[in-house]
Amino acid sequence: MGNKAYFLCCLCIYAYMTTFPPVDMIEEVDVVLKRQHGKHKHGEIKLFVFGDSYVDTGNWPKSMSSSWKRPYGFTYPGYPSGRFSDGLVLTDFIASFLGIKSPQPYANRKKISSHEMDNYGVNFAYGGTGVFNTFVDQPNMTTQINYFQQLVEEEEQVYNKEKMSSSIAIVSVAGNDYATFITKNNNNMEDLGNVTKSILSQLELNLRRIHGLGVQKIGITAMEPIGCLPKMTISSSYENCSEYANSLSIFHNQMLHQIIDKLNNQTSRPIFFIIDLYSAFMTALNIQQNHPGNS
Ligand SMILES: *[C@@H]1O[C@H](CO)[C@@H](O)[C@H](O)[C@H]1NC(C)=O
Ligand SMILES: *[C@@H]1O[C@H](CO)[C@@H](O)[C@H](O)[C@H]1NC(C)=O
Ligand SMILES: *[C@@H]1O[C@H](CO)[C@@H](O)[C@H](O)[C@H]1NC(C)=O
Ligand SMILES: *[C@@H]1O[C@H](CO)[C@@H](O)[C@H](O)[C@H]1NC(C)=O
Repeated sequence: MGNKAYFLCCLCIYAYMTTFPPVDMIEEVDVVLKRQHGKHKHGEIKLFVFGDSYVDTGNWPKSMSSSWKRPYGFTYPGYPSGRFSDGLVLTDFIASFLGIKSPQPYANRKKISSHEMDNYGVNFAYGGTGVFNTFVDQPNMTTQINYFQQLVEEEEQVYNKEKMSSSIAIVSVAGNDYATFITKNNNNMEDLGNVTKSILSQLELNLRRIHGLGVQKIGITAMEPIGCLPKMTISSSYENCSEYANSLSIFHNQMLHQIIDKLNNQTSRPIFFIIDLYSAFMTALNIQQNHPGNS
């Protein structure tokens, strides 16, 4: 797949998340669980997932994606499972904190029991996608939310407002929109300010829609330090992150914080929270540097 945005994969999340899940996220999840205390019944928390390879657990058709080939899946589950990772992805960790099974990929909906979807939610994420169309021919986030809306409308019994009130959504924007834009623009990384604005205003619409469908807690990933992705470190023989590329992540995340603050200001209590992958990656990379040889 060469250039096609796949370099944004899940390299460090596994190592970091197993030891240091982002604090904000645990606190938020904890609040949700406490709110459930006393009335929490098995299967009441559903997880709905939108976005890209950081959270996709197997939506790509088997014949079309490298995620179904080795060495993906090497450490978990031991064979390729459609995840763009050697092991677990962010979705799996969050599901585990919530004490539920990782929700099934939407692509499996005809193969699995409706009981499982009804109890644990659904994963609508497709690796390589963005809020806009990217180089991959898979559903962008708008289409993913359309699938969700269809499900909510078709199964009113299961997805009514009351039952949805204890549900959680994860939205991952790891940067495939940027990768697409930069590639189309002859690898020019300058003047991306307007690109950031349009990505985030589309994301804002998407978040409003997910909330409008009844989800009361929505986590959005802050962008990882893209200057630390292996491809960006070639010029320093894989030694140093590109500060220049990282400044794009920092700018994106600053604007994201503003949007999240604005959105939360418009609701009676905070709905939206940030899953800070930037700090997660940086901590993992610093630990790595101090303990060379650890994996
Ligand atoms: C998402 O994809 C659909 C189908 O390709 C397209 O019509 C729509 O414009 C896309 N949405 C955005 C926000 O790019
Ligand atoms: C960004 O948007 C502003 C206002 O719409 C415009 O004046 C400017 O030329 C744009 N910059 C680029 C690089 O497209
Ligand atoms: C990496 O960064 C360190 C600290 O700034 C510097 O000493 C070293 O020369 C850099 N390595 C390369 C290959 O650029
Ligand atoms: C939140 O709302 C208050 C009152 O409407 C306003 O003064 C404040 O600037 C808002 N903050 C943000 C971050 O939008």
